Amino acid sequence: MCGIVGYAGHRDALPLLTGGLSNLEYRGYDSAGVALREGDGVTVYKTVGEVDALRAKVPETSDATVGIGHTRWSTHGKPTDENAHPHTDCTGNVAVVHNGIIDNYDALKAELEEKGHTFASATDTEVVPHLVEDELAAGKSTKEAFRAVLDRLEGSFALAMIVGESDEIYLARQDSPLCVGHGDGETFIGSDVTAFLEHAREVTYLENGDLAVVTPDGVTIEHDGEPVERAIEQIEWDADAAEKGGYEHYMLKEIHEQPQALRQALSGRVDEMQGTVELGLDLPAEYLRSLEEIQIVACGTSYHAGLYAAHLLETHADVRVTVHVASEYEFRGGRDPWRTLVVAVTQSGETAETLGALRDAARTGARTLAVTNTVGSSITRAADDALYIRAGPEIGVAATKTFVSQVATLALLTVHLGRVRDTLSATEAGELLGDVRGLPGAVQRVLNADTGVRDVAETYVDSVAFFFIGRYLGHPVSMEGALKLKEISYDHAEGFPAGELKHGPLALVTDETPVLAVLTEGANADATLNSVKEAESRGAPVIGCLSEGRDEKFIDVGFDVPELGEMEPLVANVYLQLFAYHVANSKGRAIDKPQYLTKHRQLT
Ligand code: F6R
Repeated sequence: MCGIVGYAGHRDALPLLTGGLSNLEYRGYDSAGVALREGDGVTVYKTVGEVDALRAKVPETSDATVGIGHTRWSTHGKPTDENAHPHTDCTGNVAVVHNGIIDNYDALKAELEEKGHTFASATDTEVVPHLVEDELAAGKSTKEAFRAVLDRLEGSFALAMIVGESDEIYLARQDSPLCVGHGDGETFIGSDVTAFLEHAREVTYLENGDLAVVTPDGVTIEHDGEPVERAIEQIEWDADAAEKGGYEHYMLKEIHEQPQALRQALSGRVDEMQGTVELGLDLPAEYLRSLEEIQIVACGTSYHAGLYAAHLLETHADVRVTVHVASEYEFRGGRDPWRTLVVAVTQSGETAETLGALRDAARTGARTLAVTNTVGSSITRAADDALYIRAGPEIGVAATKTFVSQVATLALLTVHLGRVRDTLSATEAGELLGDVRGLPGAVQRVLNADTGVRDVAETYVDSVAFFFIGRYLGHPVSMEGALKLKEISYDHAEGFPAGELKHGPLALVTDETPVLAVLTEGANADATLNSVKEAESRGAPVIGCLSEGRDEKFIDVGFDVPELGEMEPLVANVYLQLFAYHVANSKGRAIDKPQYLTKHRQLT
């Protein structure tokens, strides 16, 4: 996913911009560039490759105190120097960086070429500076010119623009995030706050349709031509939280942060004695009582969290729950939209498919709830209500701590619903909450113990394929285990309900395909054991995550899962995360930035 940075202040903009781009590297990119406002002109440096390649290309210092920068993940045109942002007009006076896609760029480009504009790149973005050039030539002020161009763009975009004769930065947001950090006599811009967190912690998030003008003194925002005030939010994240903290990879650090992430998710929300939770939701109790159906929409790991939560919700809140891969979601008629709650589960809050699904549902009249890690993200603006998982920034592309935090938060939602709907007594709620509250400690025990996961991973690292099996709550965990392994090790891995093994996949099971089984409470371990026996009889090595004290017959390697009722499979998942990590690490994979993947599968 592309990243945007910007600076308007009194310091040399150049190192601040390249520093900001480095902060955004985790998002994945293939080229980088900056535009500096120097004298009365604009200077652009850009290159294919990493931010360090850009550093090698720029001078050590500059006189510029205003500039913008970009990391690009190709959508239109290959990764080349020419296609890297910023893009300029024919005069080189207007420079623009862009996240998103301009849907009507073909038509706009044809029109501009007809008028004699020449294009230097194959990107959709480049139409913007050329359009601005025309508007400026027609005598408009920079802001008027920018506004006129925005009116002509279709698609999704976050745009930042500088022009030679002004020390302002112009911003626009439509379906792609953009925020402004307020420093002391200096203002920062980022497609997310990590771009500038070490310099500014007071942040304004732009809304869809906003046009903003940034100066060293701050930002002025207009919407539909009218000035608007947007709140300033304080970012509490520690600057260190965005660094690796001594671990070899962000992923390993984030696996180890799970107890803390879980504590944050639960903090101040749980009254175990009373069997109640306080989630600060706006959704009225009366509505929750009359609710007939919950539809969960999500992608990837968040989808697996949704599958886990669906079982909890159906069991304890007595509500019909369907879980949908967001890209396949369609809000079908026949049910009562007023009695349907659509819950979008998304770490980033920016995943295009999840956003799209939530918006489709909202249009039909269903109420919507976002369960996300990202305050101020697009999903929180689109949904009727938001529930934060409070996991802190997750830099590794592979989602780890956000998965457990999502499930724990959704377990709290389950208790809330169960209590409001009177399907869960105070005692039952207290028991479930006790298990949820036990999560940080149980995960910590697994992380502290010398469980030998690394040795096991190294033993089986060269296997032909890996199969993950589990039932009930163990099923989403088996899918998540397989996803983690395949995305960071590039090995063939599949997760499925244990009972399905004999209906096809067994044909692939050999002594070269380890089977990883979830054999805990909440995962129908006895039934899963039948599948384990089938695998074992084909010679497959079996690695089991077992409730403490469970018989290890048929298992080649057993990992102990502390007793924790329905939360046990979630603890078993920690072993699977570590297994995936160590397999990938012993293969020397780029664990934090796996091939072809980026953190947010949003439009770049
Ligand atoms: C897997 C992973 C992805 C994301 C998916 C949804 O480790 O990170 O599968 O879970 O792209 O992302 P969010 O949760 O941001 O909507």
